[in-house]
Amino acid sequence: MEQKTKQRKRDPFLPPPDKKEVIIAPSLLSADFSNLAAEVRKVIRAGCQWLHFDVMDGHFVPNLTFGPLVVAALRPLAKKLFFDVHLMIEEPQFFAPKFVAAGAQAITFHQEIDYNIDQLIRLLRRHNVKVGISLRPKTPLEAIEPYLPRVDLVLVMSVEPGFGGQKLIPRTFNKVRQLRLLKEKKGLKFLIQIDGGINAETAPLAVAAGAEVLVAGSFIFADGNVIHNVQRLKQAATSTTG
Ligand code: DX5
Ligand code: ZN
Repeated sequence: MEQKTKQRKRDPFLPPPDKKEVIIAPSLLSADFSNLAAEVRKVIRAGCQWLHFDVMDGHFVPNLTFGPLVVAALRPLAKKLFFDVHLMIEEPQFFAPKFVAAGAQAITFHQEIDYNIDQLIRLLRRHNVKVGISLRPKTPLEAIEPYLPRVDLVLVMSVEPGFGGQKLIPRTFNKVRQLRLLKEKKGLKFLIQIDGGINAETAPLAVAAGAEVLVAGSFIFADGNVIHNVQRLKQAATSTTG
């Protein structure tokens, strides 16, 4: 009885206790937008604990997606899902509080923005939300190293941000490996997340490199078999961790 209660209350932001497991974060960007509620219910039935929201402003990336209203609309439907919001926007300092108010539990901004990152981290801490920092494939790890002790999540883009369904860039695995080594060497606590082109072939390579959270959009949603695809991805992701 006690074990069951402990399991139910486990913080979804913690890496799974069983090293053989990884966190799967379905990216809503590839879901059926004419039926988001049903798609979210499938994610829950698939046993996922995270949901990834790709927010694009048409400036930071050449695409436009959605705002806090969509997060707020889905929040009551998915009380147990951890809402992981990926801001690919030029002004996260302005919009982040609105996403937190809408129900976001992690806010990830990009290192490449033109704003003071220390200030942004302080702002997000004041809003009591998990803080994530992301970097484009071309941005070197050194660009975020000073912030690593103060973030909860590092999102390595394995495709150029802006669209789902792209092919993963294999050299981005080097950044994941470097991050894992840095984390171990300095005893840091952030989760390593990878995003872009994750599927049954690339998932085990990402996990072997050190990724703890796998974002996947088109692989999970494209053919509508969400529950089946999540199982396939979980199996593939843990196939190397025998
Ligand atoms: C791209 C987004 C990703 C994207 C992933 O800029 O950040 O989250 O939706 O989609 P797939 O898994 O199809 O590459
Ligand atoms: Zn994303």
